Amino acid sequence: MSDSGKKKNTVTITDNATGKSYEMPVMEGTIGPRVFDIRKLYGDSGMFTYDPGFMSTASCESRITYIDGDAGILLYRGYPIEQLAEKSDFIEVSYLLMHGELPNAAQRKTFEHNITYHSMVHEQMAWLFRGFRRDAHPMAVMCGVVGAMSAFYHDSTDINDPHQRMVASHRLVAKMPTLAAMAYKYSVGQPFMYPRNDLKYAENFLRMTFGVPAEDYKVNKVLADAMDKIFILHADHEQNASTSTVRLASSSGANPFACIAAGIASLWGPAHGGANQAVLEMLMEIGSVDKVSEFLRQVKDKNSNVRLMGFGHRVYKNFDPRAAVLRKSCQEVLEALGVQNEPLLKLAMELERIAREDDYFVKRKLYPNVDFYSGIILRAMGFPMSMFTVLFALARTVGWVAQWNEMIADPAQKIGRPRQLFTGSKQRDFVPMAKRG
Ligand code: ACO
Repeated sequence: MSDSGKKKNTVTITDNATGKSYEMPVMEGTIGPRVFDIRKLYGDSGMFTYDPGFMSTASCESRITYIDGDAGILLYRGYPIEQLAEKSDFIEVSYLLMHGELPNAAQRKTFEHNITYHSMVHEQMAWLFRGFRRDAHPMAVMCGVVGAMSAFYHDSTDINDPHQRMVASHRLVAKMPTLAAMAYKYSVGQPFMYPRNDLKYAENFLRMTFGVPAEDYKVNKVLADAMDKIFILHADHEQNASTSTVRLASSSGANPFACIAAGIASLWGPAHGGANQAVLEMLMEIGSVDKVSEFLRQVKDKNSNVRLMGFGHRVYKNFDPRAAVLRKSCQEVLEALGVQNEPLLKLAMELERIAREDDYFVKRKLYPNVDFYSGIILRAMGFPMSMFTVLFALARTVGWVAQWNEMIADPAQKIGRPRQLFTGSKQRDFVPMAKRG
């Protein structure tokens, strides 16, 4: 796969210090910026490239997800996210991400069966939970229990066996809702709920989270649909920090459960998966619509260090297509719950209206991102803020798994090993204690 990008043209770099030039092939994808292939640069020139944060570096070739940040486009396997959110469901989207095409009826049935019938976790995992403090952050628990899956499912850790890889993938997608619900139940001291095979993926998760053994849980279709949409919108986002972490961890040949645990750890950071919590905290701090102008004055004051959380994105510089879907979904959820007058939603909408008319935000191309509305929906559904990132991890697992499978099957895959620009001490002789200053 690695050399399938057609080589057209070249880029020539000249080292002005030596006058030598180096020619590199240019590769073209199906859409998106061209890249020039620097794999032979070090061998030819003895120089590395320097790119902290990978601002200009493609770390792999991928066929899964495409983002055009300027145009506000997000495609899974070519399909626009808005169409998938409106017309598809998470199971179908998971199949699409993992297999490259939408399933036909028989493929869907088999896939859904495989996911449903892998949703129970080894009974001994319940004891593992009991080792955590009740007040542990659920993401801390998730890092631990997902990593521990490698201690329970030995028969799917051989990454060179395509069948074992598929079983591990099904297990991860299927068991994440069960483990996420268990992390929540453990934190509130309620009994764990077993999955039910007659429920859909999102319905099952809501029941395992909010149901109790003492009574039947009635699925609210609007909430289950909104949950399913949130899962679809967060399912993949090409080579972000957590996905790159999964790829880098797996490049050494580590087992999939350990690698997904590494992805969960990366997602936990506030600059990645934690922003919807920050939006809610910001709205609560602003408090009411009449305080919006004063708050935006602080945001625009460069000395204040205050940011409008849920606005702006490293890649999307026009709009975040996921935000538009969630804005609508947010209203539907609040209506279904009979809380249309939720003050935080009113406040969020007013904040968005004023900010989008304000020169400061317009000039800098700052628009609401996916986190601006998701926190309000999740809170209305009854999730505590500490669970927000867990839900993100649950949804993103299928993206991680799809990217992991793609990487393992890629003959160009090598152990990930970035180089460095060394700026420390040159070689020097050891100084005995008596002679140190
Ligand atoms: N509020 C106020 N000003 C902002 C904001 C914001 N939310 N975002 C960017 N700006 C301003 C910057 O101050 C800068 O202004 P300047 O040119 O006058 O110096 C300009 O816009 C460009 O900002 P950068 O920080 O360079 O943009 P970058 O692409 O590095 O940052 C980021 C993107 C981190 C998401 C930023 O917009 C931000 O902090 N947003 C708020 C946090 C947030 O919502 N994060 C969630 C992202 S979505 C996700 O991870 C799923």
